[in-house]
Amino acid sequence: MNLVNDQYDIQGIPALDLVHEYGTPLYVYDTAIIKRQIDRLKNAFTVPHLGIHFACKALNNINILKFVKSCNVGLDTVSIQEIWLGMKAGYTPDQIIYTPNCVGLDEIEMALQLGVQINVDHIETLEYIGTHYPNTKICIRVNPHVMAGGNEKISVGHIDSKFGISIYQLPLVVRLVQTLKLHINGLHMHTGSDILDAGVFTLASQILFDAATKFPDLEFLDFGSGLKVPYQTDDVCTDIEELGELLSKSFNEFCTQYGRQLKLYFEPGKFLVSESGYFFAKTNVIKQTPSTVFAGVDSGLNHLIRPMFYGSYHQILNISNPKARPRIYNVVGYICETDTFASNRAISEIHPNDVLCFRNAGAYCFSMSSNYNSRFRPAEVMVHEGRHYLIRQRETLEDLLKNQVEAI
Ligand code: LLP
Repeated sequence: MNLVNDQYDIQGIPALDLVHEYGTPLYVYDTAIIKRQIDRLKNAFTVPHLGIHFACKALNNINILKFVKSCNVGLDTVSIQEIWLGMKAGYTPDQIIYTPNCVGLDEIEMALQLGVQINVDHIETLEYIGTHYPNTKICIRVNPHVMAGGNEKISVGHIDSKFGISIYQLPLVVRLVQTLKLHINGLHMHTGSDILDAGVFTLASQILFDAATKFPDLEFLDFGSGLKVPYQTDDVCTDIEELGELLSKSFNEFCTQYGRQLKLYFEPGKFLVSESGYFFAKTNVIKQTPSTVFAGVDSGLNHLIRPMFYGSYHQILNISNPKARPRIYNVVGYICETDTFASNRAISEIHPNDVLCFRNAGAYCFSMSSNYNSRFRPAEVMVHEGRHYLIRQRETLEDLLKNQVEAI
């Protein structure tokens, strides 16, 4: 979003025009930013085959999936429903990786029958697939026991985590692979989201390289994600160019030692879409209490839960009045419990009906939204090649009632 003549625009379209046309609350995604991030990632690595799979849990509108596919990016999924959505968007099973955790065997069987690349993080599941689907190519998700990630909920590679097969259980895995003649074609790790320290990738990659020497038929190594984007000015973020240079070097060296050129995979969510998204909400009230000035908007934790759930920072701009003097606000929602988007935040003076824009609203924002308080979920708009498209209608009362059965 650019500020031109006191007006914010997205690909030349004034943000306020979008708000007037589609109403608030509203999610808007800029495909040029998604493309920029894909290109950055592709250009950062100098390996013969880089495979990027978009972690579509971050943003699963079918138009976004189609756009990402058109950029030659595969799909990373965690549920059969994400696989189905991906296939509706035109993905073929060989372009999809499926990384389930604690899901039932019935779902795993459905995925196997579709023919997607499975990534297994449970020894019993490995045994089951080996016994019932003997010719399946399997990737193994290793838990390297590395503490990484922006907060406790999104740190998943440590010793107490439910994810992955412990690196200490590798001897058992190798024994199973040999006995059941499993075809292990990939090793995977993902240690967390919003990784603050890029050194984690170097450490984790060494662990993955060591593990890889035990599996002679590998085709790829998947380094998961956790690539951190900036949420505020001067924020810590992953230096992708530096990471690309370091990891490409060690990866290429490893492949020489391994004796075969492997593919290097990443499966980013936030890195590709976080900065592409904007969430617009209208100010309903300015309420002064003895201690605080609240700006209350026509949204809440039902539409954007990250600040309340993880304490995440989303920059907030008053796009109706960008040049006004800054004042200090707590920006809050209209939900029947405390739903604070931001505390003690300096924002250009806000008046009722002013439109606020929440940045970094592309990843895990709409996809984590709900109907709490029986509120409708927002509309979604995609700005693509200088034009805007409605890609999800605002919900209506019919949507709230659609699956309800009036039994009495
Ligand atoms: N691969 C696996 C196996 C994952 O579990 C995840 C995210 C990703 C890739 C993509 O990670 P990313 O590039 O987005 O960091 N809702 C949280 C983030 C949860 C991440 C879950 N797994 C948030 O809003 O911060």
